[in-house]
Amino acid sequence: MIDLRSDTKTQPSPEMRAAIAAAEVGDEQRREDPTVNELERRTAELLGQEEAVFVPTATMANEIALRTLSEPGEELIAEENSHIFLSELGGPAVFAGLMTRPLRCRAGRFTPEQIRQAVRAGDATHTPRTGIVSVENTHNASGGRFWRTDEIDAVVATARELQLNLHLDGARIMNASVASGVPSADIGRLFDTVTLCLSKGLGCPLGALVAGSAGRMAKARRFKHQFGGAMRQAGIVAAAGVYALEHNIERLADDHRRARRLGEGLEAAGVPVDLEQVETNFVQVELAPLGLAPEEALARLMDAGVGLSMTAHATRLRAVTHLDIDDDDIERAVELIPAALGALARA
Ligand SMILES: Cc1ncc(COP(=O)(O)O)c(C=O)c1O
Repeated sequence: MIDLRSDTKTQPSPEMRAAIAAAEVGDEQRREDPTVNELERRTAELLGQEEAVFVPTATMANEIALRTLSEPGEELIAEENSHIFLSELGGPAVFAGLMTRPLRCRAGRFTPEQIRQAVRAGDATHTPRTGIVSVENTHNASGGRFWRTDEIDAVVATARELQLNLHLDGARIMNASVASGVPSADIGRLFDTVTLCLSKGLGCPLGALVAGSAGRMAKARRFKHQFGGAMRQAGIVAAAGVYALEHNIERLADDHRRARRLGEGLEAAGVPVDLEQVETNFVQVELAPLGLAPEEALARLMDAGVGLSMTAHATRLRAVTHLDIDDDDIERAVELIPAALGALARA
């Protein structure tokens, strides 16, 4: 199968497996694992922050970050389809006691005016105070779109003026950095906390980090332990992360190039694709004009040997390029997908 369901589907490469096998390890909870320590040091630098904390998943990194930045009963502002609202099973309410204030916007990117309209100063008796603004970059539900520097700067300046804390769900921040040409540290340093995921485009079997100031990361380490995320010889997996930071960042440009080729090829074959949306490694396919329900479309594609997946939008599927998809896979997908969806007649 040509598996375009998600960039989380990658298998560790032989070279990554060799790095895992050779890892020097120790007790991570006591900060005695040299490979985890090295991964945390490199990630902090990559994200423009003082320290980083290794955790099993990006969901846990997000939840620890939100808990670190807020008090129970405060409000969290984010885009309505952001991962922390849509896909973490209410974690912000469960773990941090946060009220959620979703913003509706185009391409996952909101404006300073939207923050100003949503924010509440709070009072001593009735009204909860807004505590955090969370930005997702790249934005999953909008199809991997990235924030422009001037838009981030404007949102950050407004949040600072309003004394709000800032979290960056940068699960795919390296995709954003490679696509925009802006160093990841220049994006990450603007925020109080930053999440980075290792098991998406970077190709690791698991792992994520949350980064921030030394003071905040001391708090984050406490929450990591409380949440059950403190590990032992975790260098076994951190070694994959160190390998990925050395070898798998620049090559994300190949995933982006292949997504564009896929989008253009599908569009030329009559499959409805919004090419403006294809900025990184996602291609979204609109099913409504084809008269197909997503379940039926996915089943037909699976029969044809191509995996796509659902999105936050009822009539849209997505194809995601990654480390295990090469140019030949894309050329075959450009033929198989239109045929499976019955789109060729429209070309
Ligand atoms: C933007 C974003 N943040 C966080 C996550 C959570 O990642 P994990 O599956 O490692 O918990 C995802 C996963 O798809 C994501 O797309």
